[in-house]
Amino acid sequence: MVDYKELMDKAIEVSKNAYVPYSHFPVGACVLTTSGKTYCGCNFENGSYGLTICAERNAIGSAIADGEKKIKAIAIYSPKMNKCMPCGACRQVLHEFCDNDEELDVIVKMGDGIQVYTLAHLLPESFTL
Ligand code: THU
Repeated sequence: MVDYKELMDKAIEVSKNAYVPYSHFPVGACVLTTSGKTYCGCNFENGSYGLTICAERNAIGSAIADGEKKIKAIAIYSPKMNKCMPCGACRQVLHEFCDNDEELDVIVKMGDGIQVYTLAHLLPESFTL
């Protein structure tokens, strides 16, 4: 059973691999699936700036590639920002991979501890096709 501090530790570790020559803003993310598996991702940028991939979507992509479809939680970390929150695009991508936004936890680093939000709190009235 992975606890949220452990999930944050994985996000912190993977943030060290971020490829951020343009923004110099590393981000790490670690996803916990409903089956109990974890997948990490960091942001990686491109000289064509719009092609940048956020840490969260990189981690989600790894989970999908391994056959996972349901996310229970995601921890997000940047050494450059207290409470590094997910961007709007990543919030919508997270929404795609849960049954209930109230049950997907988004964990950010706050000081020496962590803060937990639900996706429902961060993405009210979300779009579903
Ligand atoms: N970034 C993330 O990886 N996740 C977020 O939720 C916010 C932004 C990245 C994108 C870019 O590489 C850098 O942070 C600055 O925007």
